[in-house]
Amino acid sequence: MRGPNLFYVSLETPSLIPRPVEATRGDGVFLLRAPLLLAAPSEWWDVAETFACDLAISLDGDVVNVEPSRAAITMTHGADLIDGAFDMRIDSAGIQILAGDASGAAYALVALRQLAPVSSWRATPSTSDIAIPCWHIVDHPRFAWRGVHLDVARHFFSVEDVCRFIDHAAQHRLNYVHLHLNDDQGWRVEVPSFPRLTEVGAFRTSSPVGRVEDASDDGIPHEGFYTSDDLAQLREHARRRAVTVVPEIDLPGHALAVLAAYPEYGNTPTVRSVGTRWGISHHVLNVAPNTLDFAEAVVCAVADYFPGSPVHIGGDECPTTEWEASEQARGIMQLNGFTHARQLQGLYTDRLTRALEQRGHRVVAWDEVLDADVPTSTIIAAWRHSLFGTEAVRRGHDVIMAPMEFTYFDWPNSESADEPMALLPPPFATTWQKVYGFRVIPDDVPHHAAHHVIGTQAQLWTEYIASRDHLDYMAFPRLSAFAEVAWGTSGDLSEFGQRLAKHAERLAALGINFRPLDAAAATSD
Ligand code: ACM
Repeated sequence: MRGPNLFYVSLETPSLIPRPVEATRGDGVFLLRAPLLLAAPSEWWDVAETFACDLAISLDGDVVNVEPSRAAITMTHGADLIDGAFDMRIDSAGIQILAGDASGAAYALVALRQLAPVSSWRATPSTSDIAIPCWHIVDHPRFAWRGVHLDVARHFFSVEDVCRFIDHAAQHRLNYVHLHLNDDQGWRVEVPSFPRLTEVGAFRTSSPVGRVEDASDDGIPHEGFYTSDDLAQLREHARRRAVTVVPEIDLPGHALAVLAAYPEYGNTPTVRSVGTRWGISHHVLNVAPNTLDFAEAVVCAVADYFPGSPVHIGGDECPTTEWEASEQARGIMQLNGFTHARQLQGLYTDRLTRALEQRGHRVVAWDEVLDADVPTSTIIAAWRHSLFGTEAVRRGHDVIMAPMEFTYFDWPNSESADEPMALLPPPFATTWQKVYGFRVIPDDVPHHAAHHVIGTQAQLWTEYIASRDHLDYMAFPRLSAFAEVAWGTSGDLSEFGQRLAKHAERLAALGINFRPLDAAAATSD
């Protein structure tokens, strides 16, 4: 559903984030009590119950599945509603929710909780009834892809931490959590047919201290990977929260951890250890047929943990110096009629895209893959600049706009010298205000092709983020601002600021170590 959004038809503004398309205040309140009596279509039950439980916890009660005639909250399919959309009427007799799908039902319950007192965002019982003001809210997302990425390669995050991250994404109506599962500094997912990927690749001896240009080594080993059981747990946790996990295996660059495990897939025999410095390595996979076989086998094995999910195949920052120096690579260029080494990367993009599509996955890749021929079915994640997204749209691709200037939350939260060390030093900064000003569809995307911009995504690269608290600090409140941009209802900054101040109380109730909204930075994490 596209086109101009209708905004409030009421003078009073509910303090919802994202801002709803339409909200009308009714009279009175509805009193929610335990047990929370819920009626929902059976195929939505798992998701609806999960979100209803969040409310029931503060009532110290359970969620009970009842007939609509007995329910406090009744959910039904809304015939004309798209995925994620809902139409919720709260009146003093009960709550009626029409939704397009389970995610729409979930988002209605998130909105309901936002209308309730902040205490309902705590994980502890606080009251015997919750008074919810009567509203009629009609809402739908503008963009189908509302993603957030987490780099678990540079610093590994436990299953518990990732589940918590998924919870916070879901509470902001983000529907894709993209896990960057490998990089030069670590391989983080079990692949039984290639055990050395984790035996060797999941461990590094040291990490840099300080920014890349002046870093010394901490000498502290860092390791971790997800087993198949861990991934099943993550996938199920996400499913119950209307979130899809998108695994990324980043090849053929960012491959030091792979090459430490299986040096035969490299261009030189010299790589023997997992990376311990940040930055871009010139050591990449070679382009021999058996290496492409390896890449396909590994990526498909990881994809198999996530049936039906989109799969990200990386493709960023792959220097061609080793290929240019390689007789074998030059022979393969000749065989394919390539005139530039950059075209060799297309062998990976093409092979992996086709293999994954055959298994029922859509494929996402970073925008550098456009330097070679690439199937138009590949979704392009435009990270360097939205211009690359525009170029991809022009070439017929679907695009996720993720330009670093607005969506890279590894940039500092402000220009203050007191911000914790981040990827870039001040004056580089991405404040929540700047994030809020991000427009997903740039002006140079022609109107008739704008549907190719399927959404947007925020990135949390973790070279300089090693703890859950610091992850919170870098993610919030920027992710709250981003959520409204991705939903498609961002508008006036100062009005948003008022809602964000209220929302910050919810973030605090959730135990999120968010960055303060004012200009002052925390002096440490
Ligand atoms: C990237 O930031 N290298 C995708």
